[in-house]
Amino acid sequence: MFVIKKFISSGLGLLLAMVLFPIYFSGQLQAQSVEEKILIVYLTRTKNTKAIAEIIHNEIGGTMVALQLENPYPDDYQTTVKQVAEENESGFLPPLKTKIENFNSYKIVFLGFPTWGMQLPPPMKSFLQEYDWSEKIIIPFNTHAGYGAGSSFETVAKMCSDGKLLEGFSIKGGIERDGVLFVFEGKKAQEAKEKVVEWLKKIDLL
Ligand SMILES: Cc1cc2nc3c(=O)[nH]c(=O)nc-3n(C[C@H](O)[C@H](O)[C@H](O)COP(=O)(O)O)c2cc1C
Repeated sequence: MFVIKKFISSGLGLLLAMVLFPIYFSGQLQAQSVEEKILIVYLTRTKNTKAIAEIIHNEIGGTMVALQLENPYPDDYQTTVKQVAEENESGFLPPLKTKIENFNSYKIVFLGFPTWGMQLPPPMKSFLQEYDWSEKIIIPFNTHAGYGAGSSFETVAKMCSDGKLLEGFSIKGGIERDGVLFVFEGKKAQEAKEKVVEWLKKIDLL
């Protein structure tokens, strides 16, 4: 007993603890599967953002979760545009049916969303509001109808300011207003895959 006490109180014990603790914790991290480490959350209406989420998932793995609302938006496009404009105006955050189990276990969270009214869609704002982003690596991705990501990436940066935000990805998807719904098929799917891979390499995830 005396020998152990002496060992601990000596600098040698402290040194050993300093070496062993990081090894133990890095072992813990490695023991976690990719599914437990990477979360890919996305909002989609006409499945374009879902297609990008699937490309990311095929490349690096992880757990995919589609955001579901307590009260889904109407099927009609114009009614939805109007409702979203009102929600953006009032700051209403629609309640979500989706709950993430073991949110703490994830280290990297991909956030996928379409541009709605040149902003981050209200359900994604609800999602960001609900969770603690400190100690997370956050990676946004977006599809739009040709007008870009608007203020959506800036809103993610503001709402996740406690976490580490990596460079996002944005690509032209459908144009529901003109009846163009899902576009990532054939040549467009291949092009999207190439662009996603290029981006994942740029941010050092591939
Ligand atoms: C309510 C609503 C608002 C939209 N507002 C915009 C917009 O402001 N700018 C834009 O480029 N596209 C806008 N779009 C088009 C979507 O961003 C685009 O079709 C996207 O690819 C849809 O993704 P999804 O298939 O995953 O739902 C809007 C679509 C909806 C339904």
